[in-house]
Amino acid sequence: MSDKKSSGNAHEKIEKNIGLMAVLIAVVVSFGGLAEIVPLMYQAEAIEPLPGVKPYPALQLAGRDIYVREGCYNCHSQMVRTLRFETERYGHYSLAGESVYDRPFQWGSKRTGPDLARVGGRYSDDWHRVHLLNPRDVVPESNMPSFPWLAEARIDGRQITAHMTALQRLGDPYTDAQIRQAQADVAGKTELDAVVAYLQALGKHAPRGG
Ligand code: HEC
Repeated sequence: MSDKKSSGNAHEKIEKNIGLMAVLIAVVVSFGGLAEIVPLMYQAEAIEPLPGVKPYPALQLAGRDIYVREGCYNCHSQMVRTLRFETERYGHYSLAGESVYDRPFQWGSKRTGPDLARVGGRYSDDWHRVHLLNPRDVVPESNMPSFPWLAEARIDGRQITAHMTALQRLGDPYTDAQIRQAQADVAGKTELDAVVAYLQALGKHAPRGG
């Protein structure tokens, strides 16, 4: 009886003190979060690259930067879910090990347009060029915006060298030779070349089959 009373008092104290209650709620909720997040940080399948997955070569990395800059992710996810109608349409469902060098990753869930995780190799380079410059030229009913300026802007080799150096410091296994070569790799290339190179590499290391 007396036990019940004292635990009742404790509850009353918490319920009447909004500051204390807020702190205790935060503590309880973070336990749930920690229990979900911490094990993932140590699970090999979530942090190790799949066989063949390497940091992006210079031109693809430049293309990825443009993809992010242009907000392509506002309409396109890059995550095939583990649902039959998704794997039949796009291919094998996405695995974390495909995206370990994506900073930030582009999985997302917004799909005004189709998922792009497996789009590499589905169309020719020329198809992508025409499509990006004016989607209606190849898909008459498309409501995707045109990106005509991509064909005119050149890739800045110094910027891409700096980006690769930063990623190397963060632990991405770029070799010094790759970084020295970057400026030459993107010399004379347009932003359109870079985005197409990036798109054509998407899903290249996906496991085979649905
Ligand atoms: C306002 C929404 C929107 C934005 C922003 C957008 N797209 Fe799209 N995209 C679509 C729609 C809708 C389709 C389907 C019709 C079509 O193929 O044009 C599509 C189709 C595509 C396809 C063909 C996919 C397939 O499997 O057939 C590619 C590749 C693509 N977009 C790339 C891009 C890239 C790269 C960007 C950024 C430079 C971008 N999109 C920005 C809406 C968008």
